Amino acid sequence: MKNTSRRQATGLIFAGFISANTWLGVGSPAAAATRGVVFKSPSCGCCTEWVKVLRRAGINLEVKDVESLSKIKKMLQVPAALQSCHTAIIGNYVVEGHVPVREIKRLLDEKPKATGIAVPGMPIGSPGMEQGVRRESYQVFLFRDGGNRVFAEY
Ligand code: CU
Ligand code: CU
Repeated sequence: MKNTSRRQATGLIFAGFISANTWLGVGSPAAAATRGVVFKSPSCGCCTEWVKVLRRAGINLEVKDVESLSKIKKMLQVPAALQSCHTAIIGNYVVEGHVPVREIKRLLDEKPKATGIAVPGMPIGSPGMEQGVRRESYQVFLFRDGGNRVFAEY
């Protein structure tokens, strides 16, 4: 089953992540912040900028530099059409690309039945992709086995 394998894959990634959580001191009063993990290529600068934006909003991601992101995207069932530069796991969701904080919080709040959320490509003006006042319009997609739907528009 496709869905089972994704769950197993997510579980495996989380298993490796528990030690980091322990190290970061889950259970301490400061641990109320949302946590997750992001996979990115070592040379990606915009990924780091996105991580900073999330951190400022109280979403702390452990950064994992990996050589092959395509394997991870495949394992986490990110549709080819929705792929971007980095892939994160936040809560029980996959977060692909430069997704705004607001939509991540909404996702964790509303808990829709989905594999994850994505901003395909790297639209200018999305969080981590700022270039002065330049702004491209873009869509945030919710994806799952049964297909994708628009979650938000910017
Ligand atoms: Cu990027
Ligand atoms: Cu990135």
